[in-house]
Amino acid sequence: MRHWKDKPLELEDISQLLWAAQGITDARGLRTAPSAGALYPLEIYLVAGRVSRLSAGVYRCRVLQHEISAVTVGDVRRDLCQAALQQQSVAKASVTFALCAVYRRVAVKYGERAVRYAHMEAGHVAQNICLQAVALNLASVAIGAFHDRQVHRLLQLAPDETPLYLIPVGRPL
Ligand SMILES: Cc1cc2nc3c(=O)[nH]c(=O)nc-3n(C[C@H](O)[C@H](O)[C@H](O)COP(=O)(O)O)c2cc1C
Repeated sequence: MRHWKDKPLELEDISQLLWAAQGITDARGLRTAPSAGALYPLEIYLVAGRVSRLSAGVYRCRVLQHEISAVTVGDVRRDLCQAALQQQSVAKASVTFALCAVYRRVAVKYGERAVRYAHMEAGHVAQNICLQAVALNLASVAIGAFHDRQVHRLLQLAPDETPLYLIPVGRPL
């Protein structure tokens, strides 16, 4: 789905989507998506535009604390759209989830295989978000086409964070 209703998502939708992406499922800290060696190399950022009770802005997900923290305040969906080769699904979505990898977390154990493992995991997490979106009567699209450096700058990522996947979510038409 690449076209959405102009109606905000609820904060509860965001919470549920994040749980599907990286929720903690047991006392050992295991999560809703599989991770090679349970090393969890992914960081998730939100670019929120139209979400009830959440100011527009960029947020970093703090999975262990079950919270999100603001990175920047203000609606940057148009800038993200530009970074994503003008794909309008990004400008119009209520929110976009950005999955980013920190490869060294996996490389310490798996060496060269870290890159493929992180990418496989991003696929699992993305799928969880997409399936959860459907279960909430929402819609999503998986986006891999974007300018890495522009997204890196816009989300104010750390030097060792690599953006992999953008997943805009909204209410289907
Ligand atoms: C790795 C990957 C990258 C993708 N990148 C984009 C993208 O940049 N823009 C887009 O509109 N769709 C993107 N897609 C979605 C595909 O275009 C879409 O899944 C495909 O056309 C099949 O349509 P369906 O998923 O609605 O069945 C991507 C999908 C994958 C798996």
